[in-house]
Amino acid sequence: MQAIGQKTFAIGVRASVVAICAALVSSPAAADSAERMKSGAGSTVRQGFAIAPVTLDLQGKNRALVGLGSYIVNAHAGCADCHTSPAYASGGDPFQGQPEQINTAGYMGGGASFGPVVSRNLTPDKNGLPGGASLEEFVEIMRTGVDPHQAHPQLGPLLQVMPWPVYQKMTDTDLRAIYEYLRAIPCVEGSPGLPDAQTAGRCG
Ligand code: HEC
Repeated sequence: MQAIGQKTFAIGVRASVVAICAALVSSPAAADSAERMKSGAGSTVRQGFAIAPVTLDLQGKNRALVGLGSYIVNAHAGCADCHTSPAYASGGDPFQGQPEQINTAGYMGGGASFGPVVSRNLTPDKNGLPGGASLEEFVEIMRTGVDPHQAHPQLGPLLQVMPWPVYQKMTDTDLRAIYEYLRAIPCVEGSPGLPDAQTAGRCG
């Protein structure tokens, strides 16, 4: 009994020493980036670029954030499934056993109907703003679900269908990365889901 007690104590002390050393050695930012390296952040960025279905405009963008954003959007969060209509090019629907071909011409241009609500265009407009939103506005939407356009007062102020209750749990870095990626994708015309829906002039 005593031996087990001592061993447990020794392990406890060792764990505390390790924790204290880690806290002393590294600042929170360094710890965060070290953690990301360990978890393979480099490879998530690479994978993000490998799976991006459209040509990316990296000019004036943070490359690492764009790659991470692509990884989150295209491998985790499924944004394009709902924000691209149709999601797949003809003959490229994996649900029909066809080799996947994403609808690149309409990628993230919105327009999918879910009963009374329609997904929005998240591509950058002629001012380079994804869905017309600044970074601050985008983060606010993702964290609160409040519809900045108040497109359907009859359903209330909150975005429906859109899984913001899930996305609101993402880190600031992840939300920034999604935004940076959306800044880098090509503009698609149209503003589906908005009361003043326009069909042309959005991309400049
Ligand atoms: C399950 C489908 C679905 C998924 C997945 C989804 N969305 Fe949405 N999203 C919608 C719909 C539908 C709306 C419009 C909701 C409404 O009108 O109430 C919307 C609205 C939005 C808006 C508001 C745009 C505006 O006009 O202000 C943003 C921003 C947005 N989505 C971002 C995203 C991002 C980023 C992802 C992935 C991380 C994502 N969405 C994934 C369905 C989805």
